Amino acid sequence: MNDKKTFYITTPIYYPSDKLHIGHTYSTVAADTMARYKRLQGCDVFFLTGTDEHGQKIEDKAKEAGVTPKEYVDNIVAGIKELWKLMNISNDKFIRTTDGYHEKAVQRIFEKMYEKGDIYKGKYEGLYCKPCESFWTETQAVDGKCPDCGRPVYKAEEEAYFFKLSNYADRLVKYYEEHPGFIEPVSRQNEMINNFIKPGLQDLCISRSSFKWGIPVPVNPDHVIYVWLDALTNYITALGYAGEDDSLYKKFWPANVQLIGKDIVRFHTIYWPAFLMSLDIPCPDKVYAHGWVLLEGGKMSKSKGNVVDPVILAERYGVDALRYYLLREIAFGSDGVFSNENLINRINSDLANDLGNLLSRTVSMVEKYFAGTIPAEREASEYDANLIDTAKTAAQKAQENLDALNYSVALAEIWKLISATNKYIDETTPWILAKDESNKAKLANVMYNLCECLRITSVLIAPFMPATAPKIREQLGIEKDFVWDEAFTYGERATYSVVKGEIIFPRLDMQKEIEELSAASGVKENPLKEEIEGIAKIDIDEFAKTDLRAAKIIDCFPVKKAKKLLQLTLDVGTGENRTVASGIAKWYKPEDLIGKTVILVSNLKPAVLCGVESCGMILAADAGEDDVKVVFLDGVPAGSKIR
Ligand code: MSP
Repeated sequence: MNDKKTFYITTPIYYPSDKLHIGHTYSTVAADTMARYKRLQGCDVFFLTGTDEHGQKIEDKAKEAGVTPKEYVDNIVAGIKELWKLMNISNDKFIRTTDGYHEKAVQRIFEKMYEKGDIYKGKYEGLYCKPCESFWTETQAVDGKCPDCGRPVYKAEEEAYFFKLSNYADRLVKYYEEHPGFIEPVSRQNEMINNFIKPGLQDLCISRSSFKWGIPVPVNPDHVIYVWLDALTNYITALGYAGEDDSLYKKFWPANVQLIGKDIVRFHTIYWPAFLMSLDIPCPDKVYAHGWVLLEGGKMSKSKGNVVDPVILAERYGVDALRYYLLREIAFGSDGVFSNENLINRINSDLANDLGNLLSRTVSMVEKYFAGTIPAEREASEYDANLIDTAKTAAQKAQENLDALNYSVALAEIWKLISATNKYIDETTPWILAKDESNKAKLANVMYNLCECLRITSVLIAPFMPATAPKIREQLGIEKDFVWDEAFTYGERATYSVVKGEIIFPRLDMQKEIEELSAASGVKENPLKEEIEGIAKIDIDEFAKTDLRAAKIIDCFPVKKAKKLLQLTLDVGTGENRTVASGIAKWYKPEDLIGKTVILVSNLKPAVLCGVESCGMILAADAGEDDVKVVFLDGVPAGSKIR
């Protein structure tokens, strides 16, 4: 990140189609932590979040609910704003893509690109479902049917406007090369180049006439602007770009960092910079794609009924505990698994034991030994140097890691200081020192170092835990307002007068919490376990009815009319070959399969799949979100029975 005195950070703008869950909270908490950190460093910060409100999905949901799209989104957006308030999110602005100034600015942006020759009228081709008035792609349609209503779809085309994305391929690659750090983690950049740019960028359809809920295309009001041009440009329209007053734009653009989830990297690192290049304005310094908050059974989804509600957790354990857990548990950039058990463990060990206990022990000791105020006369101990060094290192490392958006590492570094401070109590044994009046100066020194370390901790955790930091400072009897650099001023404070307060993180009873949480949230603690345990049991005779055989793939080719299917010719050891159609084309190339031995369910009744008579089925595993792995056998002769 650069050293500009201004700092502009954004989150994605959220779809107000459902209630937000813990995964959405993750992005916003991460951005908020960075915004707070930069403010503490004295930067003039602008932190933007908001909602992405147009598109067919919202139009459909509103229709279902019997309200206008605007009424529909107003209701959900109010809930989102409440959630950010609860989570202590310090955004400077909340943009809604239905805000009038945004809509006008997007139209001006469209016109600018159109005048430049980057937008042209063409034809959008897809699979169309007439009753739903929806276009679908080949992969979205299910066996040639509409995924929404199940009725047949047919090939259709509609007039649409296109953005000349194909013209920007070389400029994008050059931009990435010249700006290392533009896309982070860097693996995402390779993904973009290899998966999207190298195979050839297609022009991008940026209008639709099959639905109405969107910003009208200025040169043709029968069309609405298709969502990504509308959505992405929020990052500049929020600052007044193409609006009446663009002073914020002049001050803050280009953004220092744009945080996004890993699923929307393509839009932010290909479409977005191409749009900006078309407008002749600079690209953001950095687009950082974080990973996903998953559950043990995989993704959170409303249909699985396993969406974790941040409101329940924040109200129960406090916002700071939740913020801490999210940023500590998951390495930013990677996926991480959320579980109630891990959350409670973290609260008990890191917050209640390590930090909370340290504060209450320290304050109690200062009260007990010195009636609340540490005397000025102090005598150093042999353990001080190590502790002071740890405090300085923690501040330095927390800063370095925050600068690199390594939130979890920054927290781990801060916790090294907390552990070292706890260890210092054990080393210096203040309760023994207190027994002898002649040790008064030594005891005062120990208390002073404990308070200094807690003060520094309060500064370092403040961006992460904005409500806890002032509570610590209050008990240490020091001012609530401070700057980041105060983490680097060990030993400059004259003394401390402490004021005992409440326990900042009470210990939780794991068993009780797990039970009550599961009941309150409806979230299954281990959905996979429950799924497996919930499956009806069969006896051995029933299983024996399934004939499983080793079969060798001797030929394999794609099924012409069905993108998902491969046709396999199998040697089943009988001298006669079998034909099986398998829906694995997305994961395997025919040449990777020929010669391999697989497991065949040989006595499955034949079925015709897209014109192929399939006599049996081969076994494969659902190996994760959208991943399938065929079960291969090694060194087993064709025809061998598997039992
Ligand atoms: N509206 C678009 C973004 C437009 S930005 C110009 C969108 N909205 S979203 O509501 O579906 O998702 C918003 C963000 O939440 C995305 O960055 C997405 O990756 C993130 N998350 C949604 N579920 C998530 C998890 N389970 N975990 C972490 N983040 C996830 O996409």
